[in-house]
Amino acid sequence: MSFTADRLLLFGATGDLAQRMLLPSLAALHADGLLAGNLRIIGTARTEMDDHGFRQFARAALEKFLPADRRGGMADFLNRLSYQALDATSLDGYAALATKVGEPQHGLAIFLSTAPSLFEPTIKGLQSAGLTGENVRMCLEKPLGTNLASSCEINDAVAGAFPESRIFRIDHYLGKETVQNLLALRFANLMFEPLWNAAHIDHVQINVAETVGLESRVAYYDDSGALRDMVQNHMLQLLALVAMEPPGHFDSTAVRDEKVKVLRSLRKVSSGETVTGQYRAGAIGGQAVPGYDEELGKDSATETFVAIKAHVDNWRWKGVPFYLRTGKRLPKRVTEIVIQFRCVPHSIFAGKGATMQPNRLVIGIQPEENITLSLMAKVPGLDREGIRLRQVPLDIAMADAFSGATRRIAYERLLLDLVEGDQTLFVRRDEVEAQWEWIDAIRAQWDADGQEPKTYTAGSWGPSAAIALTERDGVTWHE
Ligand code: BG6
Repeated sequence: MSFTADRLLLFGATGDLAQRMLLPSLAALHADGLLAGNLRIIGTARTEMDDHGFRQFARAALEKFLPADRRGGMADFLNRLSYQALDATSLDGYAALATKVGEPQHGLAIFLSTAPSLFEPTIKGLQSAGLTGENVRMCLEKPLGTNLASSCEINDAVAGAFPESRIFRIDHYLGKETVQNLLALRFANLMFEPLWNAAHIDHVQINVAETVGLESRVAYYDDSGALRDMVQNHMLQLLALVAMEPPGHFDSTAVRDEKVKVLRSLRKVSSGETVTGQYRAGAIGGQAVPGYDEELGKDSATETFVAIKAHVDNWRWKGVPFYLRTGKRLPKRVTEIVIQFRCVPHSIFAGKGATMQPNRLVIGIQPEENITLSLMAKVPGLDREGIRLRQVPLDIAMADAFSGATRRIAYERLLLDLVEGDQTLFVRRDEVEAQWEWIDAIRAQWDADGQEPKTYTAGSWGPSAAIALTERDGVTWHE
């Protein structure tokens, strides 16, 4: 049923995500007049607090995490907020929560930003209080399980109360403007699509490098590792967007149908096609940083780095490797997709001494949003000693091309879509399950091979084996 929610209920309202992302995103939407006047936001968490206390808490979060120039109308925004303390594991408090939420005019959107262990009891509690009716949507934040089985358990529990059409699974990468722009680049331009296949593309790289370490997420991260934390969700979503067939429409069914086909076409990786690493003390940007084991305070076999040679087994991508690489404590923060085209079939300049390099398209997702296409050009001159060709970049900096546009937090887009009920940028159950199936097989392979993470120095590009993974195919990581 299509409705714009006029109540938003945030579970985990005092948590890290709420402070850093959710409250700032909602406040920014409010400042831009994008939230309906009647939208009320109810926060809930275990901490005892009254409405006033929650507004103070939210104000502090906004002052810390939202730039001053996006905080317009803060007092009015805070007036939208109210709060109800709740022990999500006990049914007792849900009736009071329902009273606090009140009777929405149109509908309620619920955002669960809590530990997955609370999902099931929360759903039961919501059911007991009549908060799962037809005018209620459920939004889930990762991690959605640690493997296929636990993810199915969560999905089953949610499906017991909500149909898929009212379940919104977040992958915040889909809320990033540049990630959506990938679809515009591919499907709003004629020139790429005829070349976007194995006949013309040599390989694809997806790099998500981070400089941060464990941050304050010791317990979560050590149970997760880079493969589950980054590859299972964000990187596979990027891969799906790069590799999918053109959908018939830009809508939630057509786009997700195409993505899931790609995810289901991922070939099970073989031994030797993945490299894992864990950082040791080093330096980033001239700053000394401790090793993972030191941050954790104990030895661990969790990978903070992973590189994978993936394959999409379908007609379009036959024989084209997709190299994925992500890690913590790498030299710089950068997310980019590299499309490496093949060489021209025949060089007419070979007899004149010119060397050629194949074209390359680099799509920068963050921190810089840019698209760079490297082209071959003739070096100016009279060519008495032969023709010289050189690669030159055709560079589009999105920030300059759209200089007046507001750079939004990914959650702004996603929260607005949730309130308005558009699922296109949310992950469907079959996608999540295809993702886990592939990831579980990698972990099983690691167990079978006894593969342990190799150490790498913080501030380097990971273990040397990751370089060897591509070099043996004659490919160099783009850095
Ligand atoms: C999260 C991961 O999903 O994404 C974090 O749990 C990671 O470990 C973060 O740091 C990266 O997000 P972004 O938007 O900063 O690239």
